[in-house]
Formats: sequence, C-alpha cells, structure tokens
Amino acid sequence: MKLNVFAFLFSLLMLFGLSLADSLRTKKPKAPGLDLLYSANITGGESVVIAGGPRGTRIISPILGGSFAGPRLKGTILPLGGDWALLDANNGTTLTPDVLQTSQTDDGEVIQVWETGRSQSQNEAYVTLNYETGSQKYYWINSVVAIGILNVAGNSLSVDVWQLTAP
Ligand SMILES: *[C@@H]1O[C@H](CO)[C@@H](O)[C@H](O)[C@H]1NC(C)=O
Ligand SMILES: *[C@@H]1O[C@H](CO)[C@@H](O)[C@H](O)[C@H]1NC(C)=O
Repeated sequence: MKLNVFAFLFSLLMLFGLSLADSLRTKKPKAPGLDLLYSANITGGESVVIAGGPRGTRIISPILGGSFAGPRLKGTILPLGGDWALLDANNGTTLTPDVLQTSQTDDGEVIQVWETGRSQSQNEAYVTLNYETGSQKYYWINSVVAIGILNVAGNSLSVDVWQLTAP
C-alpha cells in the first residue's frame, strides 16, 4: 500500500516534469527590453601607443571630460581615467575598448564606470557597461546591466547607453 502511494506520487512528479520540459521546449524565449539610460559625449586626449605587444597594439587615451544626460540621471564626466583599447594582434581589425571612467551627477554623486566591448567598424563599437556607487539615490545603478553603442569621431566619443530590462 505504502509503495503504491509512492508510485502514484512519483508518476505525478514525472507527469509534471514532462509537461514542464515540454513547455520549456515549445516556449520561445522573449527578447529582453531596453530602456535608455543616458547619452554621453566624451572628449579624449592624445593617445599613447604600445605597438607589437603579445596581444596586439595597446592604444591608451586619457579622458579630458564630458557630459551625460538621461531620464534618471545627468551630469559630467570627470577628467580622470581613459581608454586602454587593444587592437588585436591577428588581423588588426578588432578593437577592444577598455574604459575606466568617473561620472559625477548634477547633484554631486560619484559613479564609477567600467566599459568594454568590440568594435564593429572603424568608427563604431558595441559596449557593455558596469557601474559602482555608494550614493543611496543612485544605488539602483549598481545592479544595472547596460549595453551601448559607441561612436568615435577623432578625439570625440559619443555613446548611447541602454539598461537591460525583463521581457
Ligand atoms: C552631445 O552632443 C550632441 C551634439 O553636439 C548634443 O546634441 C547633445 O546634447 C550632447 N549631449 C550631452 C549629454 O552633452
Ligand atoms: C580579417 O578581417 C577581415 C575584415 O576586415 C575579415 O573579413 C577576415 O575574416 C579576417 N581574417 C581573419 C583571419 O580573422
């Protein structure tokens, strides 16, 4: 008798598991949403180049300043940090930006930004961004996953950044 109860429960579980697996198989994944976080303009300084390294050519450019504005935050980009971009050794066509940047909101809060990605053409790169702040007001940005499209024109950069949201 005891065995039958177990068998019954087991088959229920199996049925549930199978239908769950079935629905997972037939369920089309939904694309996440994107909310505009901000657009930024950044002015870079003269680059320093380390050519012939084991991983390619390192192109180091300081950040001289900039500004950013979006629906939930705006402010200036401080003259700190820069881009330690790597031009790949194999082909010399893929540039990996590696940006450390410090932003200050118009109400005086400081947000540290890390940004990396891959160039798509000579003037455009797709990037991912991570943020760090201790500000209570902007604390939400610590858990943001953001992507951006970066455009380069001489020493000036512009980037549009979106926050990933659930479907
Ligand atoms: C960035 O520059 C563009 C073009 O000059 C301008 O329209 C835009 O307002 C600037 N954005 C910020 C946040 O400074
Ligand atoms: C080198 O770059 C070109 C694009 O400029 C690409 O089409 C090609 O596949 C690359 N070759 C290698 C070996 O990665």
